[in-house]
Amino acid sequence: MNSRKLLAGFGLVTGAYVLAAGIVAFVIPGETARAAAPASDVVSHNHSHDHAHVDPDQAEQLTGQFGAHGDRHPPAQVFATVEEGLTERRRRSMSAKSGHFRALSATLLSAAGGEDMVQTHADALALLGSQIDRLFEIASPAAEGEKGALQAIWDAPERFALYTEAFADESARFAQTVRDGGDLVNGLHDLRYYCVACHADFRQR
Ligand code: HEC
Repeated sequence: MNSRKLLAGFGLVTGAYVLAAGIVAFVIPGETARAAAPASDVVSHNHSHDHAHVDPDQAEQLTGQFGAHGDRHPPAQVFATVEEGLTERRRRSMSAKSGHFRALSATLLSAAGGEDMVQTHADALALLGSQIDRLFEIASPAAEGEKGALQAIWDAPERFALYTEAFADESARFAQTVRDGGDLVNGLHDLRYYCVACHADFRQR
């Protein structure tokens, strides 16, 4: 595909993506300028459950081949209930999907190369997509008025299953599109619909 056309096409897609995410962006072919506003969406990486770094002197000491280094991230939290543990796992897994999605869009939007890694990210999305239902195995809705998963997921499991299955199918289709050398811009656009629809109907902001 002609790269200017690809960038222009993706600019339109990204315009919509970015609007949905509450982020202001200007996409110019060959150049991307972004001003991120506080937004919690498919692309957000600022989460209330992220923890502040600890003091250097309190950091856990790890040793290895490159000498001793303190890990300033607090050691893994212990989760008091299975609901809390699953919520954390679900959120981290969602962030992983977001990371792969954004790595893909950055590849398509820049001239920095990495086309050979597109399949890796697409396959990762398809694998995570095939197991997305596992992130909802235990009822773990957010507390009333708080951000997170809606009770509707567990009240209407058959309806929710339509969304997880559709995402599994579409992420597999996208990985196949990459394998076939198909239209990645439209493929990513189609996949994003399933992220957005599920969030609109089953996620509380
Ligand atoms: C079948 C439903 C569904 C699909 C499909 C889905 N999500 Fe989610 N996502 C959720 C729900 C529900 C939450 C809220 C989870 C919680 O806070 O417990 C969420 C939360 C998130 C979060 C916030 C995580 C955090 O740390 O708070 C991100 C980022 C995210 N999703 C990205 C994506 C992306 C990107 C896609 C598509 C590639 C996607 N999601 C597809 C249901 C879905």
